[in-house]
Amino acid sequence: MIVVATTEGELAGMCNRLRALGVRSVDVVAPSDTRRVVLASVEDAAGAAGLVVSLRADGVMAVTRPDGGAALEAWYRDTRPVSFGERLSVCLAWSEHDRRHLPGLIELGPGGFGSGHHPTTSQIIEELAGRIVGGERVLDVGCGSGILGLCALQLGAAGVVAADIDLDAVEATRRNAHVNGMGGRLEATPDPLGRIDGPFDIVLANIARAGVVELAPELVSHVSKRGWLVVGGISPSQCSQVVDFLHPLTEVRRRTSGAWSTVVLARA
Ligand SMILES: C[S@@+](CC[C@H](N)C(=O)[O-])C[C@H]1O[C@@H](n2cnc3c(N)ncnc32)[C@H](O)[C@@H]1O
Repeated sequence: MIVVATTEGELAGMCNRLRALGVRSVDVVAPSDTRRVVLASVEDAAGAAGLVVSLRADGVMAVTRPDGGAALEAWYRDTRPVSFGERLSVCLAWSEHDRRHLPGLIELGPGGFGSGHHPTTSQIIEELAGRIVGGERVLDVGCGSGILGLCALQLGAAGVVAADIDLDAVEATRRNAHVNGMGGRLEATPDPLGRIDGPFDIVLANIARAGVVELAPELVSHVSKRGWLVVGGISPSQCSQVVDFLHPLTEVRRRTSGAWSTVVLARA
């Protein structure tokens, strides 16, 4: 089985295209007023994987899906939408879960880390939801899918620069900004931090301890006078050491969930 996320306007053309590509049958789910999710039966797993590769090369949001059993249960669980307070929700574009009544919905296509389910991502989004007042300039170092920057924009940030060393992540972030109508307010780049002009009101770096320590001086120098820095993907036992590297910023908040901590820092 493959699943394709499309829109109501493009649905008929997509179904015709899938049939022309040899798909046996299609079912359509309408999880929101505009989103259409096409479930397409393919002869075998190899055929499904090959079809996904060629559709994605054309910019189509296509993924393979398990046909049944525990794997399908896990699929439904992993594709459920996530809400963050009353202003923000995140969902994978190909999710079949209904999302008509979710507030501030961001949809994500394939590619790049970050769907909102992992604690390192959700801890930072919760900080954004509680702290963004509107109009901020945001830098997201290690943007993955672009989820953090898109959430910041949905919450009222004015603009985002999203950087990643992985070109696939940069491309995924650009596509996701476009999918959410935010392409004009988000710039995705593979440039290293040293080539990005600051400062920013908010700097985000969910890049684990080693990445934060390596980039510490540049992360600090990109934070504006009254701005704040959020570092994530840190093990709880390593937080204090990481904070020391980020001097003269000081810790103002820490969130821990299981093996992961997120630390918010600002100038004293
Ligand atoms: C754990 S993912 C975080 C993705 C997303 N920001 C989130 O919070 O879900 C880490 C991302 O950082 C990127 N990355 C790792 N080291 C980096 C560095 N030094 N500069 C820029 N990006 C980096 C990786 O390629 C990966 O996409």
